[in-house]
Amino acid sequence: MMELGWIANALDARSARRVQRIQSLWSGYGELFRIALDGGPARTAIVKWARPPADAAADESLARKCRSFDVETAFYQAVAPRCDDSCRVAKLLAARTSAGEWILVLEDLDAAGYATRVDEADDAQLDAALAWLASYHARFLGEHVAALWPVGTYWQLDTRRSELAAIEDRALREAAPELAERLAAARFQTIVHGDPKEANFCFTADGARVAAVDFQYTGRGCGVVDVAYLLYGRSDEPRDGIDRVRLDAYFGHLRRELAGRTVEVDALEAEWRALYPIARLDFCRFLAGWRPAMWRADTRGRRFVKCNQMLRSS
Ligand SMILES: Nc1ncnc2c1ncn2[C@@H]1O[C@H](COP(=O)(O)OP(=O)(O)O)[C@@H](O)[C@H]1O
Ligand SMILES: [Mg+2]
Repeated sequence: MMELGWIANALDARSARRVQRIQSLWSGYGELFRIALDGGPARTAIVKWARPPADAAADESLARKCRSFDVETAFYQAVAPRCDDSCRVAKLLAARTSAGEWILVLEDLDAAGYATRVDEADDAQLDAALAWLASYHARFLGEHVAALWPVGTYWQLDTRRSELAAIEDRALREAAPELAERLAAARFQTIVHGDPKEANFCFTADGARVAAVDFQYTGRGCGVVDVAYLLYGRSDEPRDGIDRVRLDAYFGHLRRELAGRTVEVDALEAEWRALYPIARLDFCRFLAGWRPAMWRADTRGRRFVKCNQMLRSS
């Protein structure tokens, strides 16, 4: 178990005590837990403790995960302070990084009023999540932060070579580089969250407001890659895979966020709308190679790939 004395010291608290395990990190890479503080800036805080298993193979996957913890640390140090209530994130209370270990001590979002978690967002929650994404994308439009991923999202092709090789559909496998290039070549780039699924959003009880967590894969990208991922596989997804109502809502939020800024919003919206199916295909490319058996059962995803074959070579 981790020694917590340094946290109490760093936060000027009399003591720090572990009170609740929240979850273990993906495939044995550490854990998340809540601590109680005696004195200090808050009564509770969240500790994200990442330590890859000593016997983890030194492969693409380990390199990706280690870098993702560097990225998340950099995010909380340099980017999070620039996020306001419209793209709410936890405040960083303390951080410690050493060889092969990353520790983040974060504001407890439950205590801040964002205590609701959902498996599938309802309309109000989904709209709040889309508004969060629009605010984040608008805020960092055109910015490049070197410490984040040069290409955001956990499924980006450069870090998924073994999954690429595992894709059975030859046309999809061969189209993969072109899909990634088209997204990378977009004129309008911003910082994307990179893993905006429901589990990484914390909602207020009324579902009207939301905070986001898990910035391991944040980096450069077109905003629509986050939107395509958030909407992927929802039970109310339209047959053709393009949820125009939700896309309109996202762009409505984006335009409101950009009002008063010198941004060519019409050109931005036109470009990102055109890239939406590409972003969706790019995520399908990941699914097809990551879990081939699941992909074979994903009839909607497979239909989307089939119907959009022409997009890949146009
Ligand atoms: N600052 C926080 N306050 C409250 N809950 C949090 C906070 N950070 C993470 N969590 C909860 O812990 C879960 C896991 O954290 P996350 O950073 O997403 O780890 P993982 O990389 O394992 O997905 C989140 O889905 C969220 O429910
Ligand atoms: Mg998560």
